[in-house]
Amino acid sequence: MISVSQHLSPAQAACLRTEFAALDRAYWRDRSRHKPNLGLNGSPGHYFSCGRIACPEALRLAIDTVAPEWPGHGLEDWVVNWTEPGGGIPPHVDNEGYLAVALLCLQSESGAFVWYRGNDLDRPQPIPDRAGQLIRFDDIAQIHGVPPALSDRYVIVFLYR
Ligand SMILES: [Fe+2]
Repeated sequence: MISVSQHLSPAQAACLRTEFAALDRAYWRDRSRHKPNLGLNGSPGHYFSCGRIACPEALRLAIDTVAPEWPGHGLEDWVVNWTEPGGGIPPHVDNEGYLAVALLCLQSESGAFVWYRGNDLDRPQPIPDRAGQLIRFDDIAQIHGVPPALSDRYVIVFLYR
């Protein structure tokens, strides 16, 4: 099941984005080198992550406060992904053992999240980025990816058990 809703106002999303965009590079881990999320084609993708524990405390609290509730699931962790223009994540299946994922986009027109209907790579279903938009999916076998970003793209990934 994939659902899309508006979780934060665009202004709230922009506020969080400003904080992440100002973070020193030292906060970000290069996911092509650290815990790569390999695509079906074996390539690692190009993006950076800042995990909850690594995040500065004020920002961590701000995100904890807006974390979406998901009846039937418990929030386990979250991570912020930053994709530079041209970066992206090839079609893949998440392999970290969570049961459900919610993606909170912090800006509009930075690209898209793409899922594949019937896990058929010839049937991409792009969901264009919108500030404050939340995409939820709870089928862990669902193939998904991020095509080359159009601008710096910040997305908070909430992970549920
Ligand atoms: Fe993923």
